[in-house]
Amino acid sequence: MDKIAILCSGGDVSGMNPAIKRFVEYSFAKGMQPFFVYNGYEGLIDNNIREAHYEDVAGIMTRGGTKIRSARSIRFKDATYRAIAAKNLQDKGITKLIVLGGDGSFRGMERFYHESGISFCGIPSTIDNDINGTDYCLGVDTALNIIKNAIDSIRDTASSFRRAFVIETMGRDCGYLALVSAITSGAEVCLIPEIPIDITQYKGCFESQIRKGRDYFIAVVSEGLKNANEVAQWFEEELGFESRVSILGHLQRGGNPSVYDRLMAYKFVTHAIDALLEGKNNSVICYSKSHFNFKSIDEVALNPYRLDEELLNLGREQFAPSHCQM
Ligand code: F6P
Repeated sequence: MDKIAILCSGGDVSGMNPAIKRFVEYSFAKGMQPFFVYNGYEGLIDNNIREAHYEDVAGIMTRGGTKIRSARSIRFKDATYRAIAAKNLQDKGITKLIVLGGDGSFRGMERFYHESGISFCGIPSTIDNDINGTDYCLGVDTALNIIKNAIDSIRDTASSFRRAFVIETMGRDCGYLALVSAITSGAEVCLIPEIPIDITQYKGCFESQIRKGRDYFIAVVSEGLKNANEVAQWFEEELGFESRVSILGHLQRGGNPSVYDRLMAYKFVTHAIDALLEGKNNSVICYSKSHFNFKSIDEVALNPYRLDEELLNLGREQFAPSHCQM
């Protein structure tokens, strides 16, 4: 019987548990024995690898996070530890591995494949949506819905108190979460690394809006700019508008997975297992232009991710200070 394992690496996302459920069920359906690797690459090194059963995945569809936990492993960068990890898998007869993670995790896996001969397929999973070669990473939809709910709630209190709220989203250096959230929540300001905007250019327009009765502002900023406090101070000092900063933080990473993430988890895992059975040994299953396709690790990890130009243009148009309606 073929043996196949799954692990999660890097920041967890909502959608990992549905993926783990599909992994167990589809592996059995394909006549393979599934295994869980706990704690990401750390678990590979520490031999924290256990057989998976149907009961393990009962009821996990609705849960965020990952039942098998995740980790960021420094040790896996070291060939000595990778050799230990390979031996742990080989001793159990595991020849195939599915990795839910980001491009850094896939890069490590590629080295591992060349050293150990253990095949793998990567499934892009990060709320940052910053992996080159795929339009969608698992977990993004759930994170966006959480941000949407948070901004909608903040709008209620912002308007009740006549305040400016500066809301910081996650995303590392990528502005995807902030941009989509700002557009879809009707924010007045969106500041992301990909669209440089000088906030002082809004001054005249915002003053005019205030004179006409505007009683709150919503500004969405992405964490990569590290300027939430500065922006809040600008509202206070330049517009005389009381302001608050709300850093959404890790709540963006948890929560009940959305329907879309559950479905994408099922599709990603199904394609990944099929690919491994067809002999694709070291690839990443990507989703672009509404289709699934396999890309090499080089294609995914060597090139920087770029935000979709159409989305960027929407943002440029929507948030250009010159388009601000007086
Ligand atoms: O990569 C996912 C992510 O949530 C980023 O958006 C964020 O910058 C980072 O992880 C936070 O990492 P940690 O959970 O280690 O604080």
